[in-house]
Amino acid sequence: MRAARVAAAPALAALALAGCAPRRASPPAPVPATLKAALGGRFLVGAAVNAEVFSGRDTAGARLVREQFGSVTPENALKWESLHPRPAVYDFDAADRYVAFGRDAGMFVVGHTLVWHNQTPRWVFEDSAGRPASRDTLIARMRDHILTVVGRYRGRVGGWDVVNEALADDGTMRRSPWQQIIGDDFVELAFRYAHEADPAAELYYNDYGLENAAKRAGAVALARRLLAAGIPLAGIGSQEHDGLDYPDLAAMDSTIAAFGALGVKVMITELDVDVLPRAVRQTGADVTLRAAARAELNPWPDALPDSVQQALARRYADLFRVFLRHRGDVARVTFWGVTDRDSWKNNWPVPGRTNYPLLFDRQGRPKPAFDAVLDVARAAAGP
Ligand code: G3I
Repeated sequence: MRAARVAAAPALAALALAGCAPRRASPPAPVPATLKAALGGRFLVGAAVNAEVFSGRDTAGARLVREQFGSVTPENALKWESLHPRPAVYDFDAADRYVAFGRDAGMFVVGHTLVWHNQTPRWVFEDSAGRPASRDTLIARMRDHILTVVGRYRGRVGGWDVVNEALADDGTMRRSPWQQIIGDDFVELAFRYAHEADPAAELYYNDYGLENAAKRAGAVALARRLLAAGIPLAGIGSQEHDGLDYPDLAAMDSTIAAFGALGVKVMITELDVDVLPRAVRQTGADVTLRAAARAELNPWPDALPDSVQQALARRYADLFRVFLRHRGDVARVTFWGVTDRDSWKNNWPVPGRTNYPLLFDRQGRPKPAFDAVLDVARAAAGP
């Protein structure tokens, strides 16, 4: 039913353009049922986009993003390995197209991500003999990268995931090459350089699994450390690669409250809901996890049974009730992908599965979960 309403507005607009619109007062054209119309008054709604979408090669995907979302995040195009594959080589082709796509559509453009331990080439952490680089060398490389990338998009990228996933599951600092070579202060230095490059850009810390009490405490402590040092931390991004039964809604609720109490924005930055059987014990998004493909781990290669479709819709409704309850603190909710076809969840942690984690199906049609989110938004708006 919602799909019909989405389609109705362009059809009426086409009639009007063709000069066929009735002259007499007619009922107002239905407002297209879009995520940004339904939720935009509360928080930004965004999507991560791949190169097919932002280059326009996926025309339907690009149209869907422009119609539904008010913000974009690059799924891979602004990561270190994409932008800066070799020491003196920067390649901005894809990144420039991404930024232009978002700006041309009037969307809030996010930069993801400056300092991460994944999708960062090995040379970054090594000297010319292949040994670990010195602290000074790595700091100099990080500074050059951040000043070059953030500086290029100064005034056009509105906010940056400056540091991604610096915490281990127990809330201590992850023993990544950044932390091992520079020390814990690599986080503070990255934020200082990003602020130097674009003083007006919002700067975020982004991580997964933050409902876990120990990791949440680590994130709160890290944020306090940065704020106490005078770092303009604008927000904390909670990725939310969720499942039908995790994380616990009460834990999510208290995590958002804990971050909001720090006085920073809370962003749900990489939302999706995995409906497939768990292949590994861990939840979250450790991209290095792998599990072998087995038929029982891929039960619905052709279509999602209605019972699971409805469970997904209920889960999305529950999640958005939590986000809307915290609408003073939650500034943005970004989905990690646009349609089920593009989702990374089809290949993690098991390659080649058919997953159904987003609001739009493989043909770009809204799913019952889409209607459920809109219904929750309407209910939250009151009668
Ligand atoms: O670029 C190569 C391409 O040349 C090659 O032909 C192809 C064959 O597999 O692989 C391509 O690289 C892939 C890359 O995405 C670009 O498409 C990698 O294999 C694949 O592992 C990589 O996955 C990305 C993942 O980050 C890697 O860390 C996912 O698309 C992306 O959704 C995911 O995003 C992360 C966030 O940045 C941080 N939080 C977790 C989230 C999900 O893992």
